[in-house]
Amino acid sequence: MHGRVEGKTALITGGGSGLGREAAMHLAEEGANIVVSDLNDDTAQATADEINAQRQGAAVAARHDVSSEEDWADVLKTTNSQFGSLHILVNNAGISIHGPIEEVAFETWKQVQEVNVDSVFWGCKLALPYMRESGGGSIINISSTAALYANPMTLSYGVSKASVSYMTKSIALHCAQQRYNIRCNSIHPTFIKTPLLERLADAAGRTVEDVHQSLGDVVPLGEVLEPRDVTFAVIYLASDESKMMTGAELVIDGGLTAGYLPKI
Ligand SMILES: NC(=O)c1ccc[n+]([C@@H]2O[C@H](COP(=O)([O-])OP(=O)(O)OC[C@H]3O[C@@H](n4cnc5c(N)ncnc54)[C@H](O)[C@@H]3O)[C@@H](O)[C@H]2O)c1
Repeated sequence: MHGRVEGKTALITGGGSGLGREAAMHLAEEGANIVVSDLNDDTAQATADEINAQRQGAAVAARHDVSSEEDWADVLKTTNSQFGSLHILVNNAGISIHGPIEEVAFETWKQVQEVNVDSVFWGCKLALPYMRESGGGSIINISSTAALYANPMTLSYGVSKASVSYMTKSIALHCAQQRYNIRCNSIHPTFIKTPLLERLADAAGRTVEDVHQSLGDVVPLGEVLEPRDVTFAVIYLASDESKMMTGAELVIDGGLTAGYLPKI
């Protein structure tokens, strides 16, 4: 099926790599016009170029630090001047820095909250007027299974993703109450094959294949996710097919948070 988001305009943060790149490509395949934003303007441009090679004029790239209010204002202005509307916001950009409470530096904690939480605050706050002007829309916040169950090593990251869950529900209810026709949902993937896991493998001095294998072993369905396993959910939430869904946590985790597989 194609054209599920035909005629809509989407802004995807962190669209130069991994999940954000795949979400941008997939939304474009389904007919949306795309603004690819990223801290790294070269990779954002590479994603936009790839989309434009399929459909000329369908994508533009923008340099964007998602923790900066000013950058958000600029990127939203660019979106409006390029495409005249905004219907889909995918708050995807994020960082993961590991460490337990006794080791994590306060600066690291703050950095993770700024990139993973302040970004969603500014993005939603500043995008709402544009979405209202466009007749409504869908905000998709990329959280994680880390929001749903704890791990000693993912203190800063897990708290940031749990904050994204709460923010999602609060914003969803505000928009519903105001009858804005704007929905807001979060997606909670488990481990995905992206450069984020490659960096974790590097830091641990292990090969990426080895890390995929050992993380896959703890997932009941037996493997880590491909980016497309998540972007199909992005398409669903972005499209009018999910028009009665808001404030929800969509979990894509191969059964990881359902329980555990007994070994006896
Ligand atoms: N990979 C996983 O296992 C996994 C699992 C669950 C959730 N997630 C979430 O998915 C999202 C995407 O992660 P990914 O795995 O594709 O990682 P990635 O590192 O491949 O991509 C992240 C992108 O965000 C950009 N970015 C980083 N800081 C930024 C900033 N301040 N402003 C703008 N852009 C910035 C990077 O340049 C990069 O292009 C993140 O929110 C992450 O927490 C990832």
